[in-house]
Order: sequence, then C-alpha cells, then structure tokens
Amino acid sequence: MKRFLLAIGLLSGFSATGMADGLTAPSLWKNQRGSELRITSVTGSQLHGTFTNFDPNFQCRGIPYPISGYTTGGPTQFTVNFVKCGTVTTWSGSAQPFGYSAGWVLRYKGRAEGGYDFFSPAN
Ligand code: BTN
Repeated sequence: MKRFLLAIGLLSGFSATGMADGLTAPSLWKNQRGSELRITSVTGSQLHGTFTNFDPNFQCRGIPYPISGYTTGGPTQFTVNFVKCGTVTTWSGSAQPFGYSAGWVLRYKGRAEGGYDFFSPAN
C-alpha cells in the first residue's frame, strides 16, 4: 500500500513539473535582476498585479507599475508601461510552479531592446 501511494505521489509530481501551469494568485516572483512581479488576482486568463523594477542598469526603480497581460497553460505574457520613463516592456514565456522564464522587449521612442528574465517564486 505504501509503495502504491508513493507511486501515485511521484506520478502526480512528475506531471506537475512536466506542464506549464500559468501564474496563480496571490503570488510574488523575483527575477535575477532583483525586480518583483506581484500577481494579485487572475480573472479567467487575465493577470492583475504590479511589476517593480530594481535593476540598477535601468531607471524607474522601486516604483510598482500595474501589469496587463494573460496567463495560460501555454504562453504567459504581460506588459508594463513605465510611465515616468516613457518606456513599455512586454515579457513573453512559459510559467511553471518552479519558475517563469520569459523573453522581453523594451520599447522607447520607436527603438527596441531585448533580453531574458527568469522569475523565481518569492513567497
Ligand atoms: C526604464 O528604465 O526604461 C524602465 C525600467 C525598465 C526595466 C527593465 S524591463 C526588462 C528588464 N527586467 C527588469 O527586471 N528590469 C529591466
């Protein structure tokens, strides 16, 4: 019986790590730059929350800006309008319980630059 329960546990664990789950609420995520993504609620697939930049290589640090975007078992995407800086960044990737890996594009006055962020659970 113990072996059976262990097998069930392992199998459900494997399936949980094998699929993208999307972001859930409430949750807090921190990326490798120290920035924070806070998800306050998910309505259907629509994300609600804030993003706070803490990367010393960028401006508009420490200001929580609202996010707009969506999360699914496939792609998860959100956009932040850094009003004070005149820049808009969109992240796109796949969210799993252990992390959200996303490419981003930052647009400023018709120019664009890009990179990658990995968000780890922070709560
Ligand atoms: C700006 O300086 O234009 C506003 C802040 C931009 C911060 C960028 S968005 C992509 C990357 N990931 C972060 O956590 N911070 C930078």
